[in-house]
Amino acid sequence: MKFKKLITVVVGALAIPFAAIAGEDSQLTVEGQLMVTSVAAPAHMENVDEIFSGWVFRKDETQALQMDDFDNPAFIFIDKAIDTFSKVEGTAGKACVSCHESPEVFKGLRASMPRINSSGELETIPELVNGCRTERMGAEKWKWSGGSMAGIVGLIGLQSRGMPVNVNIDGAASSTWDKGKELYYTRVGQLNMSCANCHEDNYGNMIRADHLSMGQINGFPTYRLKNAKLNTIHGRFKGCMKNIRATPYKEGSDEFKALELYVASRSNGLTIETPSVRN
Ligand code: HEC
Ligand code: HEC
Repeated sequence: MKFKKLITVVVGALAIPFAAIAGEDSQLTVEGQLMVTSVAAPAHMENVDEIFSGWVFRKDETQALQMDDFDNPAFIFIDKAIDTFSKVEGTAGKACVSCHESPEVFKGLRASMPRINSSGELETIPELVNGCRTERMGAEKWKWSGGSMAGIVGLIGLQSRGMPVNVNIDGAASSTWDKGKELYYTRVGQLNMSCANCHEDNYGNMIRADHLSMGQINGFPTYRLKNAKLNTIHGRFKGCMKNIRATPYKEGSDEFKALELYVASRSNGLTIETPSVRN
């Protein structure tokens, strides 16, 4: 339990007041478009008054990378995805572009995902993409966090950049949302911590060499300097669970989908920043 102690000590001792965060006053403008990086918390959030994009918590150099698409390394992968969009694959001899005129037709989709479909099931963007691949193209499924999937999900998300997150949590979504909320507040793993212990109780504080954010997903998929690739939402959830020595749920599992809905609803009002840049 040495690690647990370390976390308590680090979070406690190095706690820097939130006002000292480098980027708190800076504004994120991408390609001339001003992003909403802080806004009043949605009504359902009981313990927080204001929500912040993860961009706010990053160092100046990292922040700068996201302010210009030419500097943003994520665009290497977005460019690849543009090629993939026109690539014929599968037994039907089709590409995405055979049925979807251009990626721009997906404008707005990312801001409202995940959502409940007509069968009453929660659906995510990777599932929609794989549905088209298997049922409409006769092609193999892509792996949830594989390069092709992360790239296409990034390209689809980019079309909603600058639009406010607005996921529906009412009606048919409410029981799944409840489940996601429960997961968010349940302590797990050897360190016995919940998502909220870090991302709600300690955002703005230092943990090891990192500034803790609110764990928002409005910038996903995100390019991480650490692994130099696009990282998916469920990939990040998995990483955080591993860090607290918990057995992570599987990418695409009902648990992570419910958690995605809940976490997305905690960013209602922030803008989509896809593709963001993080450490
Ligand atoms: C044979 C035609 C066809 C092909 C090929 C195809 N799709 Fe689709 N796709 C559809 C249809 C039909 C729908 C459902 C109606 C709609 O939303 O356009 C759909 C829906 C979607 C949606 C959900 C859109 C929304 O707003 O709900 C996404 C995302 C999507 N497709 C992505 C892709 C991607 C990425 C590819 C390539 C890997 C692809 N599709 C290939 C026909 C196709
Ligand atoms: C021990 C503390 C800790 C716990 C517990 C934790 N995380 Fe994290 N998380 C981090 C750190 C550190 C980072 C990287 C810095 C940052 O963005 O906060 C991070 C990053 C993230 C990000 C990326 C944010 C961005 O803007 O790119 C998401 C999303 C996230 N966590 C979700 C979760 C979820 C969901 C859970 C619960 C399953 C969780 N985290 C549990 C420490 C934690």
